[in-house]
Amino acid sequence: MSEVLAPGGPQAAHIAQLWWLMLAICAFVFIAVTLALGCAVLRARRATSETAPESPSTSGEKRVGLWVKAAAALSMLLLVILLGASVMTDRALARLPLDDALVVHVTANQWWWDVVYEDAQPDREFRTANELYLPTGRPVIVKLDARDVIHSFWIPSLTGKKDLLPGRTTTIQFRADKAGEYRAPCAEFCGLQHAFMTLDVVALAPASFDAWADAHRAPAATPSDPMELRGRELFVSGSCMLCHAILGTSANARSGPDLTHVASRAHLASVLPNTPVALAAWITDPQVAKPGANMPAHFLADADMRALLAYLGTLR
Ligand code: CUA
Repeated sequence: MSEVLAPGGPQAAHIAQLWWLMLAICAFVFIAVTLALGCAVLRARRATSETAPESPSTSGEKRVGLWVKAAAALSMLLLVILLGASVMTDRALARLPLDDALVVHVTANQWWWDVVYEDAQPDREFRTANELYLPTGRPVIVKLDARDVIHSFWIPSLTGKKDLLPGRTTTIQFRADKAGEYRAPCAEFCGLQHAFMTLDVVALAPASFDAWADAHRAPAATPSDPMELRGRELFVSGSCMLCHAILGTSANARSGPDLTHVASRAHLASVLPNTPVALAAWITDPQVAKPGANMPAHFLADADMRALLAYLGTLR
């Protein structure tokens, strides 16, 4: 996980410092133990090759005793240093200033992420899925929940791990200082598609983030093209609306990802490329790409599928 060693914010930097210290101490201990073991093996060989082994002298025994005491004391010291560094890192992580923090509520599901941007003004709240956009330089408080089993939230370049537990809300706070795209793999085995439960994290300069958020607050526009209108009609009259929501239509279900701006996302179902071909294959048989996924298969006539894809393609 090279991302852990490329911190994009203060929290990850604290964790990376601790990681380097642990690596240095553990490498030193490993080399010292290997050398001591090598010496012991060589001495034992020499002793067995000598015909008449003499009994160990008292001064030799004393020397060995001193070495053992010194090694034990050094081990204790190194463990205390590690403990101290770990406590200090923990305290540093808790000291992140949280003025003007952005609050995002992330709920993990098998196997996708529901993401709600909270706001003091309820009409400014909005929702997306499988992506977490953040402004740089501003602290973020992420509230974490799970709907089914335990998952784990982890953006290696930005922050450490925190579990998402069904029935209990936890929080994690961090700040992204470097703009860029980060990967957040689910870090707790949560079933068949655990390895394909990834959150796309994108840190943008504050102005770009505000523009992104404003675009995502807006409901989906009603298309004027007849084919796109037909697709919209299929969506809200068929089984799609039983699980999904599109703001600005009558589809308002929450058991699947919100699709109001699905066309703007980098990925579908958190791992597939967001292309019409992949979307058609996903709608037709989700089990091919993600065995075990809750989304059922839909066999649509060609013309219906084209209309549905055309409509979903407008949801930018
Ligand atoms: Cu969700 Cu592993």
